[in-house]
Amino acid sequence: MSTDVATLTQALAGQIRARYQGVPDLAIILGSGLGDFATTLTDPVIIPVSELSGYPASTVDGHAGQIIFGKSGGKTVLAFKGRLHVYEGYEPALTVIPVWIARHLGVKTLIVTNAAGGINPGFSVGDLMLITDHIGFQFRNPLIGPNPDQMGPRFPDMSEPYDRGLIARAEEIAIREGILCRKGVYLALTGPSYETPAEIRMLRVLGADAVGMSTVMEVIQAAHLGLRVLGISLISNMASGMSDSKLSHSEVNEVGQARKAVFTRWIHSIISEL
Ligand code: HPA
Repeated sequence: MSTDVATLTQALAGQIRARYQGVPDLAIILGSGLGDFATTLTDPVIIPVSELSGYPASTVDGHAGQIIFGKSGGKTVLAFKGRLHVYEGYEPALTVIPVWIARHLGVKTLIVTNAAGGINPGFSVGDLMLITDHIGFQFRNPLIGPNPDQMGPRFPDMSEPYDRGLIARAEEIAIREGILCRKGVYLALTGPSYETPAEIRMLRVLGADAVGMSTVMEVIQAAHLGLRVLGISLISNMASGMSDSKLSHSEVNEVGQARKAVFTRWIHSIISEL
């Protein structure tokens, strides 16, 4: 499968290059409710993925399905507004198309963002969390299938999937700018149903600080392709059973709206110091 995706994304990168010739300094994948960051880039060039032949359609509210090139602090940013999830029915290898495209376009640094449920009882709704490590509880892997050896190893190392240097710099910037930032382990399930309270109690014992339905596949693919990764979760809700409220996707998007100013300011500062 990965060989097919390598070929498919080579073709997609060609279509994108025909519309934008700059070489991006970094790529960012924007999670649920966080897509508005892309609108703060200057000199934007917007490419709806529906105009790229072969790009799977995003089916989720809050995931626009756009590729946006723009500037931030003198750097060229490639932003993916919307991502692909396994719960939409896509094969794991297809959900990592943005990572492949970034790699084909010459990107070496990837910022992955998501909305997640807080499991760590010390967290609050609206907190931003630097992802220090992850647990892949989707029990799938985007690298299953023939390995394109010229692009990455058959058995990629995962001992530091989130770059320690980038985490340290992002944390320093947060402290300097008075942005409260947490650090923790992100655990991905397939969804689309949210978890039960018993599942959340289990995940806490297993070492998860936050839970979501994305990101892990992308980070595995980034490790395979040799990209440096910084991961950031917005705690959009406390996980199931940890508060009285029921979980809903509209709540997730609303917290994204409420926190977008701080999220955007932090990301721009991080990008300017990369
Ligand atoms: N669980 C899983 N995925 C999520 C959550 C959650 O509580 N919040 C946002 N994405």
